[in-house]
Amino acid sequence: MKLLTTGVRALVFSVLVLPFAVKAEPADGDVLVFGGTGQLGSEVVKALVAADHSVTVFARPSSNRVRLKGLPVSYVLGDVLKEADVEAAFKAAKFRVAIDALARGGTPVSFYAVSGRYLAKWAAATGVKQVILHGSVGAGDSMATYPAARRGAMKETMAAKTAAENALIDSGVNYTIIRNARLPRHGTPATGKARLYRDQRVFGAVTREDLGPLTAECVDNPRCLNKIFHAADASMPGFRIGLGAD
Ligand SMILES: NC(=O)c1ccc[n+]([C@@H]2O[C@H](COP(=O)([O-])OP(=O)(O)OC[C@H]3O[C@@H](n4cnc5c(N)ncnc54)[C@H](OP(=O)(O)O)[C@@H]3O)[C@@H](O)[C@H]2O)c1
Repeated sequence: MKLLTTGVRALVFSVLVLPFAVKAEPADGDVLVFGGTGQLGSEVVKALVAADHSVTVFARPSSNRVRLKGLPVSYVLGDVLKEADVEAAFKAAKFRVAIDALARGGTPVSFYAVSGRYLAKWAAATGVKQVILHGSVGAGDSMATYPAARRGAMKETMAAKTAAENALIDSGVNYTIIRNARLPRHGTPATGKARLYRDQRVFGAVTREDLGPLTAECVDNPRCLNKIFHAADASMPGFRIGLGAD
């Protein structure tokens, strides 16, 4: 009788409870993803979950979580432009890796410099082992790779993105910077042909759907530590290696 009861309980649990199981709380060792509800961030989260990483997403109370529906992730809430929120997020558990897939939306371009500074500071202060920053081709030393005709218009954005890169590099945390140049519409199917290039003269498109798995492959990967990459897909139009003359 006791066996039957235990068996029935297990059956009820597996049929009724498991399919709805969610990861309720941030846990030590998690990967903390900023911007995880966004177009790029959600592809990163999906790839991390597929690779068996335990994931916590930093989101605003107002963030639409629909792209992460059904995924076993936990959340910490806050506004990345408020340093106290970023500090509290990093103290919610002992995170192993943090990933920045943020985009500014309608806020000023200084968003990238401010959020990057807070993220780097509190990742370092709380012992995070690696930070992966999604940046842009045109930042840092790669301005010469960026199309010459757009350099003026993008000057302030690139300065803010360069400041975020530098804050991370100077923080002492192992960094991985993945710059992209052109992102096709979210929903464009992955080609499986995108790569991370060390050559900062590489310029081209890459889908967010390919960037997700490329990001997950860099987590805990010694080959990605303290490196800057340009993500691009040689099978997509516009791929080039060289200066941005046009
Ligand atoms: N080269 C290109 O063609 C191109 C095109 C587009 C984007 N990008 C770059 O690619 C990256 C990702 O862009 P995306 O289009 O995938 O982004 P997205 O869909 O707009 O997602 C942005 C994410 O950042 C979050 N976020 C914004 N402000 C925040 C705040 N104050 N506090 C907390 N979270 C905040 C958003 O949260 P909510 O859900 O609350 O809004 C969302 O999760 C960015 O670096 C962007 O500059 C490049």
